[in-house]
Amino acid sequence: MDITVIGLGYVGTVAAASLATAGHHVLGIDIDQDRTTLMRSGAIPFYEPGLGEIIQSAVATGCLRFAHRDAVEGPLGDVALIATGTPQTEGGAADLNQVRSAVSWIKSQPSGNPVVVMKSTVPPGTGQRIIDHELAGAGLRYVSNPEFLREGQAVMDWRNPDRIVVGANPGDTESVAVIQAMHAGVSAPYIVTDITSAEMIKYASNAFLATRISFINEIASLCDRVGASIDAVSDGMAMDPRTGGRIFAGVGYGGSCFPKDVRALDHLGLTSGANVELLRSVININNRQRLLPLYALRERFDANMAGLRVAVLGLAFKPNTDDIRDAPSLDLIRALVDEGSIVSAYDPEAMAAAQPHLPPVVSLTENALEAANQAQAVVLITEWQQFVNADWRDIARSMRPPRFVFDGRNALDAGEMQRLGFEYIGVGRNGPGEGQPLDRMVA
Ligand SMILES: NC(=O)c1ccc[n+]([C@@H]2O[C@H](COP(=O)([O-])OP(=O)(O)OC[C@H]3O[C@@H](n4cnc5c(N)ncnc54)[C@H](O)[C@@H]3O)[C@@H](O)[C@H]2O)c1
Repeated sequence: MDITVIGLGYVGTVAAASLATAGHHVLGIDIDQDRTTLMRSGAIPFYEPGLGEIIQSAVATGCLRFAHRDAVEGPLGDVALIATGTPQTEGGAADLNQVRSAVSWIKSQPSGNPVVVMKSTVPPGTGQRIIDHELAGAGLRYVSNPEFLREGQAVMDWRNPDRIVVGANPGDTESVAVIQAMHAGVSAPYIVTDITSAEMIKYASNAFLATRISFINEIASLCDRVGASIDAVSDGMAMDPRTGGRIFAGVGYGGSCFPKDVRALDHLGLTSGANVELLRSVININNRQRLLPLYALRERFDANMAGLRVAVLGLAFKPNTDDIRDAPSLDLIRALVDEGSIVSAYDPEAMAAAQPHLPPVVSLTENALEAANQAQAVVLITEWQQFVNADWRDIARSMRPPRFVFDGRNALDAGEMQRLGFEYIGVGRNGPGEGQPLDRMVA
């Protein structure tokens, strides 16, 4: 198939590269001149494991090309796939300007009859409005095909999706067949439904995952009050298959999807008159959660935060990405700096992306050990494997007492940290039995 991918962000680039790798002829376009120039040179503007390699080989086979939107002339092929951003507006709604601009550009193209495939996450009802207004009279078919890939493992997720969701107008079997042809060779169950339901599947999935995170964080907070261990509680819950598996307490969710998508659904509740109290609580819990390390530091240091040396390990919203959109680290660091603390920080991949969003007084270091040097406290925000496997004995030596560690992802071994001389605090891990190995018996 001939496919034009519009928008070369995390999703569009993975889609373009993966579709080209599968043998389709793909043209990836963007309105960002720097981005398309960079990509034409063989580089990618962000970190995603394995993506650079598949782009290089797809470009070498001639299946993948990149261009600035203004340089594109002629038919867009069988599919015009929209992967532009849908960031959050001030009021919490999804900003659809990039999507609208992409739709009207597709419509303005002189020839061809592509199926418009919406990969961007758009609020339920958007596709139908696009069909009724923006695409009215254009003679173009429209399909919702939301994306579920996870940054950090996006290439793998594209190849092995849990499901492929297709939202099409009733009776539009041709568009459904186009999506199936696009994903030829990918084995996954299909959910074929109407456009608005497909859009809702994406939002409901993200909102549910965010709800699980806020739920376990609320339980973790109760564990800390009563002296229970969230590790044991999570393990015990996960053994019931109805709970959906193990979930980890921590400083909350972040990133380019969960925060904005939950807020957009909450906003949709307000504007449609639906009652979405649960979503509001999920957001509130998450906002509080990202400042937990600050509260713990205040308590430990009797609110003497000015001049306190704090090392923050991890800036990306999760490991294996350089994405810092809505990352908990940024809120925490700004709050620490506001209170006069001296902050050093390190992330294996996200330093360049984070720097413009951090107060200039924050010192960005070469590695975790350097960040921790002379610090009284370390806060682990992103559970990069290199932090989990770090030589914490060396880190202990380089720090100043009391060697306080706030483990914002419950990723470290509490007992081992205590043995190394750290004052260790986790999330929901601070009961009397903490540091003792969990006893798991199989009957
Ligand atoms: N990032 C994820 O992990 C993820 C996962 C699933 C779904 N999504 C959804 O996919 C969509 C894209 O997400 P992203 O993270 O890749 O976004 P992004 O912001 O990283 O990239 C968007 C790209 O679109 C380009 N663009 C904007 N307007 C354009 C236009 N009119 N024509 C051509 N290019 C244009 C921008 O320059 C940018 O390069 C969003 O709706 C997001 O919610 C993202």
